[in-house]
Amino acid sequence: MANLILVSNRLSVSVEKKKGKLEFKPSMGGLATGLSSLDQKESLLWIGWPGLPAEELREEDGESIAPTLREKHGSIPVDLTREQLRSFYYGFCNNVIWPLFHYFPSYAAYDKALWESYRAVNSLFARKVLEVAGAEDTIWVHDYQLMLVPQLIREKVPEARIGFFLHIPFPSFEIFRLLPWRNEILTGLLGADLIGFHAYDYARHFISSVRRLLGVENSMGYVRHEHRLSRVDVFPMGIDYKKYSAALTSRVVQKQMGSAARELKGFKVILSVDRLDYTKGIPERLRGYELLLEHNPQYREKVVLLLIAVPSRTKVHHYRTLKKEVDELISTINGKYGTIGWVPIHYFYRGFHFERLSAFYGLADVLLVTPLRDGMNLVAKEFVAAHRDSGGVLILSETAGSAREMGEALLINPNNSEEIASALKTALEMEEEEQIERNAVMNERLSRYDIVAWTRDFLNKLVQVREVQDSYLVKKLAGSLKEQLIADYRRSERRLIILDYDGTLVPFSGRPQKAAPDRELVELLTVLSADPANDVVVASGRMRDAMNDWFAGLDLSLIACHGAWLKPKGKRWRLIEELSNEWKEQLRPIFLLFKDRTPGSLVEEKEYALAWHYRNAEPELAALRASEFKDILFSFTGDLGLDVLEGKNVLEIKPVNVSKARAVSMWLARDRWQFILAAGDDNNDEVMFSQLPESAYSIKIGPDISEARYYLDSPAHLRQLLAELAP
Ligand code: UDP
Ligand code: G6P
Repeated sequence: MANLILVSNRLSVSVEKKKGKLEFKPSMGGLATGLSSLDQKESLLWIGWPGLPAEELREEDGESIAPTLREKHGSIPVDLTREQLRSFYYGFCNNVIWPLFHYFPSYAAYDKALWESYRAVNSLFARKVLEVAGAEDTIWVHDYQLMLVPQLIREKVPEARIGFFLHIPFPSFEIFRLLPWRNEILTGLLGADLIGFHAYDYARHFISSVRRLLGVENSMGYVRHEHRLSRVDVFPMGIDYKKYSAALTSRVVQKQMGSAARELKGFKVILSVDRLDYTKGIPERLRGYELLLEHNPQYREKVVLLLIAVPSRTKVHHYRTLKKEVDELISTINGKYGTIGWVPIHYFYRGFHFERLSAFYGLADVLLVTPLRDGMNLVAKEFVAAHRDSGGVLILSETAGSAREMGEALLINPNNSEEIASALKTALEMEEEEQIERNAVMNERLSRYDIVAWTRDFLNKLVQVREVQDSYLVKKLAGSLKEQLIADYRRSERRLIILDYDGTLVPFSGRPQKAAPDRELVELLTVLSADPANDVVVASGRMRDAMNDWFAGLDLSLIACHGAWLKPKGKRWRLIEELSNEWKEQLRPIFLLFKDRTPGSLVEEKEYALAWHYRNAEPELAALRASEFKDILFSFTGDLGLDVLEGKNVLEIKPVNVSKARAVSMWLARDRWQFILAAGDDNNDEVMFSQLPESAYSIKIGPDISEARYYLDSPAHLRQLLAELAP
C-alpha cells in the first residue's frame, strides 16, 4: 500500500525523560497537534525528531527507541545530536528563520556555521526519507525547519511526489531578501510539486520573491524552475473540529472545569494560551489588560486573566529575555492591582494536554489572542469550536493567519494596547445572544474546512499538479526522440522548417534593436536553406527592414511583423491583406504614457503594431503596470479590430487579422510536406504550434507549458540540432 510520509522537524509524539525512564507524550505546538489528527493512520509514516538529543535517547537497557516509535506511533526518528540541536534547531531555525519570517529582522543572527548545520540536518532528513520512501509514496514535508528537503529529495529521485507546507508566514520580499541564503531556500522549496501556505498574502510574497530573486515568472500559481513546474497555493489549516467541538461534553473535561469553576465563581475569565514566544505579543497583551484595569475600576476584583505560557525554545536568548519581561510585567500588575482576595493574573508557565486545555477553553468568557505575527494560530480556532453552542468572545490579532477566516472575532492591532483594552471591554459587555451568533458563523466555517478537509484538499491538489505536469510539460527532445527526428528529416524530400527568431534562434537581448544574427547563425541558415528540399521560414515579430538587412543574400522565406508581411523564398514581400494604421494615433499616447510611468521600459513602433517592452524595468512594478496596461488595451481590441499579444516581457497590439498562425497555415498549404519542424519560445508561437499536423515536430524553446510536442532548453540547443540536420 502506498504511504503518506509526513516529514516534520518535530514528531507528533515527543520522548521525555522522567527519572531516567523514557516516556512518550503528545507534542505541543500547532503543527504537531494539527497533524496528529490526520485520518490516514493505516498508511501514515511520520519522520521527525522525537524531542530529545540523540545522546539521551537510549532506554535504560541501552536499547534504541526506534522500534517502539515505529510500531506504536508509526514514526521514524531522526536523531539529532546536542550539537546539531544547538546549531540547527536553536540556531538557524529559531534564531534566523523564525525571527526573520515573523518580521523580527533585528533578532536574526546570520551566521554561516548555523546555515551549514541547517543544510547538513536537512540532508539528514532527506536521506531518512529516501531510505523508506517507495515509488508510489507521497512525501509531505512540513515547515520552516526543512525548506531544503524537497529539492534534496528531488535531486535523488526526480519523479518523487513531494508536497511542502509552510506553517509560518512567508514574509514580504523586502524582509526575505535580507537572508544571505535566500536563493538556496527558494530553490529548496521549488523542489516540491506543490507548495502550500496558510494565507494568500504568504503565497503572494513567496511568488514575488521567486520572481525577483530567481527571475522566474508564475502563471496562474504555477512556477517554472529548472525544467520543472511547481504549484503555489493556499490552504488555511483547519482543526480537528469533531474533537474540539465535542470537548466540553466530555466527562473528564467537565470534571476538570467543575472544580476550577468553583474557584473562579463570580469572576469573568479572560484566557490567554500560547508558547512563550516573542511573536505572540504577550507583553503587549498584558499592557492591554493593565489598561483595562486602569481605565475601568469597575472590573477590578471582577475579572481574572489566566495566562498559559508554554515553555518554548528556552535556549534561545530572545526567549529567555522575554520570559524575564513577562514575569516582571505579571508581578507588576499583580502587585499594583491585586488584593487579599483577588489576583488579577493567574500565570501558568507550563503546557496542558487536551483535557485540561479544553477545560480552560470552557471556563473562559474571553480568549485573548494577540500575536504580533502568527502563521495561523490554532488556539483561536479550538476555542471557538469548543464554544460551538455557547457564548465566549474571541479577541484576535489582525496579523494572525486565522484572522482571515474569523472576521466575526473582535479584530485588533496587537501593537495597540489601548485597542486591546477597549476590545476587552467590548467583549466583557457583549450580549450573550450576539456572542452565540458570532460563534455560530465561525463554527460553520470551521466545521467545513477542518483538518480532514485541509489534508484532503492539499493531497488532491498534489495529484492534480502531477497530472498538469504530465500533460503540459512537453518532452525534452533528446536521445532516441532526437535520433528519430534526424532520421525522419533525412528520409523526406519536401521539408518545411519554421523558426521563430528572438528567444528561439538567438537569446533575448536587453534592447530589441540589437540581437542581429551572428556569423554562426547566418552560416547555419545558409547551409540549411541551400538544400533544395528545404523551405526554411524565419517567422518573427520583427519589422521587414530588419529582416531584409539581416538575411539579405540568404535563400530563406520570411514572415515579418507577426505575419503582416510574407516573403516566400525567391519572391518579393507582400502584405497578408490591406491593413489600416489609423488606430495608432489613438493608442500611441497611451503606450508613451506607460513608458514614462515605468522606468526602463521602451516603446517600439512597427509598421502595423505597437509594442511596449519591459524586460529592463523593475520586475514588480512592471508586472503591476503590465496588468493595468493589458486591461486598457483589451478595452480597445473589439472596437478597433485589434489583438493584444502577450510575449515575454512585452505587450504588443496589432490588427486581429495578422497572426503567425494564419501566415503559417498558408505555408502549410503550399506543398505536400513530408517533414515539418517548427520552433518557438513565446505565447505567440503557441497558436502556430496548434495549427500544425500531428506528425510535425513542434519544439518549444525552454521547458514550459506548451502546445508543442517537445522542448529544448535554449536557442543554443536548437542551433545544435539544426547543425546536425545540416551537416
Ligand atoms: N497547546 C497544547 N497545550 C497547551 C497549549 C497549547 O496542547 O498548553 C496546543 C494547542 O491546542 C494548539 C497548539 O498547541 O493546537 C498551538 O498552536 P498554535 O497554532 O496556536 O501556535 P504555535 O505554537 O503553533 O505557534
Ligand atoms: C510552530 C511551528 C512548528 C513548531 C511549533 C512548536 O507551530 O510552526 O513547526 O513545531 O511551533 O515549536 P517547537 O520549536 O517546540 O517545535
